[in-house]
Amino acid sequence: MKSISIYLHIPFCVRKCSYCDFVSYSAKPFEENHGINRYFEAIKQELIRYKEKLSTYKVATIYLGGGTPSAVDGRLIHDLLNMIRASLNVTNDAEITIEVNPGTLTNDKLNHYKAAGINRVSMGLQTTNDQLLETIGRIHSTNDFITSYHALRDAGFNNISLDLMFGLPGQTLSDIDRAIKLIDQLKPQHVSAYSLKIEEGTPLFDAYEKGSVQLPSEELEREMYHRINSKLRELGIYQYELSNYALPGWESKHNTVYWENKPYLGVGVSSHSKLDDVRFSNTSNIHEYMDSIQKGESVIIDSEPIDAEEDLFESIILGLRLNKGIQIDLLNERYAIDFEARYEKVLSSLIQDHLIIREGNTIKLTELGRDLANQVFLRFML
Ligand SMILES: C[S@@+](CC[C@H](N)C(=O)[O-])C[C@H]1O[C@@H](n2cnc3c(N)ncnc32)[C@H](O)[C@@H]1O
Ligand code: SF4
Repeated sequence: MKSISIYLHIPFCVRKCSYCDFVSYSAKPFEENHGINRYFEAIKQELIRYKEKLSTYKVATIYLGGGTPSAVDGRLIHDLLNMIRASLNVTNDAEITIEVNPGTLTNDKLNHYKAAGINRVSMGLQTTNDQLLETIGRIHSTNDFITSYHALRDAGFNNISLDLMFGLPGQTLSDIDRAIKLIDQLKPQHVSAYSLKIEEGTPLFDAYEKGSVQLPSEELEREMYHRINSKLRELGIYQYELSNYALPGWESKHNTVYWENKPYLGVGVSSHSKLDDVRFSNTSNIHEYMDSIQKGESVIIDSEPIDAEEDLFESIILGLRLNKGIQIDLLNERYAIDFEARYEKVLSSLIQDHLIIREGNTIKLTELGRDLANQVFLRFML
């Protein structure tokens, strides 16, 4: 049976952080008019539409992302996962991840997550600098994070990932060192570290445009990245993807599906899918999403057959994000090409510029290549 991964988008947060442009809404107004329940009914309806198509697939990973899935009643998450198990072929050892925010967990929610079979939790720390947490609009302090982390461990979650951000306004290398020290104490299995992206339409973007917010220089931002990399390595938490680190064997299976350019189904507002040689995406408007589902109409706003050339390019640039790199024989087989002949000039120039290395059947980014990854990716556009 073929394997598929399912992403479920839960677009509610306690409140929006100043830098974030993910499709998510402040939960309160939706709570007040039963909008959250209605949204969960809509996702279930959408899933039912895929029941027949997915009958030939086994579901190997499920990811509840957002938004903040922990901002909603745990019963809704539990019922949703029960419904998925009853309708689709979820494997016994499926990796089931939920994204949570510190300060939103209760015993009731943790009990529901456990009973629902959730076995991996990703929680946003971002920084251990409380003043900075406030500046960027986070709802929690470092202590709230620590309390939530222990609550997860006490509830029996043994696969925890935390999110860090670097390149934040006013952030320093000592901030990074303090975050790493906390990681050393808490010993999570996995860390994601994201460089701040100033996204148009966010309050942080506006403040940056007005000049009221100063960002670290590009050199300092790179220094933070290298500091995270080397300090985590000292703790045995190895980089396996441009923004991701794990203890050996605890890499995210779900996200690896994306980087290996394998099939996935995204359900919910604004989600994207790659299934049966078609790429498609849902509307980003939650009201339109719920109304269309209720009327039995499609929520897909964009759909195109996957073009082999484009897919090959995607497989190269996504695969190079992984430290293990890309395997020439696998690409040759998947796309019926002679990879080396086709990219001969690109490969030799990238090797000469010390951006990639070749080890037998494998091509990987070098340390310099990881710093200049976007430039490397562009060179593969023939
Ligand atoms: C959907 S959020 C994670 C779940 C949860 N809502 C939270 O914030 O903790 C995914 C992660 O993306 C990162 N992120 C969001 N916006 C970002 C931005 N503009 N630049 C860099 N990282 C960002 C944050 O680290 C965040 O934890
Ligand atoms: S970073 Fe997380 S909590 Fe903050 S607005 Fe985005 S999704 Fe919500």
